[in-house]
Formats: sequence, structure tokens, C-alpha cells
Amino acid sequence: MVEAKTILVTGGCGFIGSNFIHYMLGKYPSYRIINLDKLTYCGNLDNLCEVVQQPNCTFVKGDIADRERVRGILHDERVGVIINFAAESHVDRSIEDPDLFLRTNILGTQVLLEGAREAKIPLFIQISTDEVYGSLGTKGFFTEATPLKPNSPYAASKAAADLMVRAYAKTYGLASIITRCSNNYGPYQFPEKLIPLMISNAVEDRELPIYGDGLNVRDWIYVGDHCQALDVILHRGKSGEMYNIGGASERTNLQVVRTILESLGKPESLIRFVKDRPGHDRRYAMDFSKLKQELDWQPLMTFEQGIQQTITWYVEHRDWWQRIKTGEYREYYERMYGNR
Ligand code: NAD
Ligand code: TYD
Repeated sequence: MVEAKTILVTGGCGFIGSNFIHYMLGKYPSYRIINLDKLTYCGNLDNLCEVVQQPNCTFVKGDIADRERVRGILHDERVGVIINFAAESHVDRSIEDPDLFLRTNILGTQVLLEGAREAKIPLFIQISTDEVYGSLGTKGFFTEATPLKPNSPYAASKAAADLMVRAYAKTYGLASIITRCSNNYGPYQFPEKLIPLMISNAVEDRELPIYGDGLNVRDWIYVGDHCQALDVILHRGKSGEMYNIGGASERTNLQVVRTILESLGKPESLIRFVKDRPGHDRRYAMDFSKLKQELDWQPLMTFEQGIQQTITWYVEHRDWWQRIKTGEYREYYERMYGNR
């Protein structure tokens, strides 16, 4: 158990990282968060506008693969735990251009691990993904013992990072935990991922591109439930362990898209079946019984509730995603935050 008063969150301007910061500062007002983020195309300080001015929430613009930057932060601050969300996270981009995925997801993680080792940080939490396990057939679930069989450059880079975390734990005794979560959805998700892309396209009466036959299955978890699982793991998780986190909500992509169209009152004629993604994993499904049994966590949000809340959020925050979709937000950053 770790006294996590000061947390170094990396990638806190992205989708899950920003939700996590909101969650933690809301629940633990006495905690301090240092948010190290490079502000890549999907890092958005707007995601944190309610908390970015709070004295216990510090933003540092920087790269997790920058040794001096990481060393500087860990030297100056008394960090109780590092939670590494920072990553290149989109499978399609990893297929187009894998190089950056190796640099950020593998080398970046190793730089953080090295910094943690040098500064004797009490706990390192690596935010990983179910995609490291590869693809399932129609039956079965991923457990923590499932062999790693990543199929995309993204998944391979995340699997490599997990192995590096393991190596630092075994070789140097670094206290660490790896979490592997299924597909998240909710507020502040960059609209290149399935759910925000489909909601925003449907709102604008644009086509909804479905890869292949649309029967690929994902296990969807509301981002708030993921944050709550991380809270539990951070405070009560056992060092050296891995924990699967899941939403218990398997849906085909076609089911997800139809739910969105129905909720928005839009016609199914907006659906376009397009060329399949190369190496497209057929099905992900999580067995998270370890987390349930050992730490008494389970997801609270049903998919039906979560998707409705999410659709409402995107409808009410049209400015947020329209700025991103038009590329206007880059100029806005420079004006608002310069080179912070
Ligand atoms: P995201 O793409 O929305 O955010 C990533 C954040 O990392 C951005 O703010 C970006 O600016 C920052 N970043 C990227 N490269 C960086 C670097 N070199 N240095 C510092 N910051 C950098 O991603 P997300 O969906 O919030 O995912 C967060 C983490 O959770 C990732 O590690 C991802 O692999 C993992 N994960 C995501 C999901 C999901 O469904 N989104 C599921 C399981 C696990
Ligand atoms: P995505 O949100 O990219 O997450 P991941 O690939 O990490 O699971 O995609 C979720 C599913 O939706 C996946 O099976 C690919 C599919 N998909 C489409 O059919 N069309 C799209 O435009 C996108 C982005 C994804």
C-alpha cells in the first residue's frame, strides 16, 4: 500500500489521463498531481480547463522519452507514484507509421522506469491494454495468464513496454503494477476512435465508416469505471501484480453504431462498410475476476447507461470536438498556453 500524496501522471491531457485527473482531484482534494504531457495531436489542455489553474495540479509540457526532463521532475518533487498513461494510442496510426509508437510507448516507458529506479519512486503503474493478448474466437476470455500475442504495431509496442516494466521489477526490484483495460469510452475521447467518431459524424449527418463486416467485438468500459479501478489498484493493489480491467459489455461494432444512430434519431443509411483494417483483431473479452476477488472492484456503469451519457456529452460539447476536427485547436493552444 502506497501513500500516494503526489502523483506523476503522464499523458494527463489525453482521454483517460484527463478523466483520471478530474476523478482524483475530485475525490482526494489534498493530493497533488503533476501532469507530464507532450501535447501531441490528441493531448488537449481543454480537457483539464476546470482544474488546470488549481495549485495542486501542475502541468509540465514534455516528452516521457526525454531523460533530462523526467529526471528533473523526479529530482525536484517527492513523487509517491508514477502512473504512465502517455502513449501513441491509435491502432490505425500505428499501421501507417509504427516508428513513433516504438519511441513513445517502449523507449518512453523505459526512460520513466529508469527515472523511477534512480529516484527510488515507491510505485510505478503502467497503463496497458487488453490488445497485448491478441484476438479471441467466439468463446473465452483473456486472463492475466493469457500469453501475449499482439497483432498491431500499437499492441506490440504496449506488450514490449509491459515486458520492460517486468524486467525492471525483476532486475532492479522496482515496485510496479501493470493494468490491462478493455476499450474505454466517455467524455474527452479523441474523435478518431470508434465511439466519438461515430457520434460526431452522425450529429453532422456524415457517413459512418465500419471496417469489414462490422462484427468485430470489443468489451466496452465507461472511462469513469476505469478510473475507479485505478484508484483501487493505486491504494490497495499488490506490487508485482498485473490486473485485467473490463466492462463486462461485449458488443459488435455494428451494435454500437446502431445504438448511436437510434439514440440520435439518425438513419442507418449513414452506415458505410469500408475496407477492413489489416490484422483486425476479431474479438476482445476480459476476465477481470482477479480484480473483483482481490480488490472488490467491478464496473458500475451498464453499456446502455454509459453510451447514453456519452452521446449526451458529445451533443452538449460540440465546440470541443468541432475545434479538434477542424484543426483549429492547435492555434488556440498556442494563443492560450504558448510554450508552457
Ligand atoms: P490518448 O491518445 O487520448 O492520450 C495520450 C496522451 O499522451 C496525450 O495527451 C498525448 O499528448 C500524450 N503523449 C503522447 N506521447 C507522449 C510523450 N512522448 N510524452 C508525453 N506525453 C505524450 O490515449 P488514451 O486513450 O487516453 O490512452 C491512455 C493510455 O491508456 C494509453 O497508454 C493506452 O495505451 C491505454 N489504454 C487505452 C484504452 C482506450 O480504450 N483508450 C484502453 C486500454 C488502455
Ligand atoms: P478503435 O476505437 O480504433 O479501438 P481499437 O482498435 O483499439 O479496439 O476501434 C474499435 C473498433 O471499431 C475496432 O474493431 C475497429 C472499428 N472501427 C471501425 O469499424 N471504423 C472506424 O472508423 C474506427 C475508428 C474503428
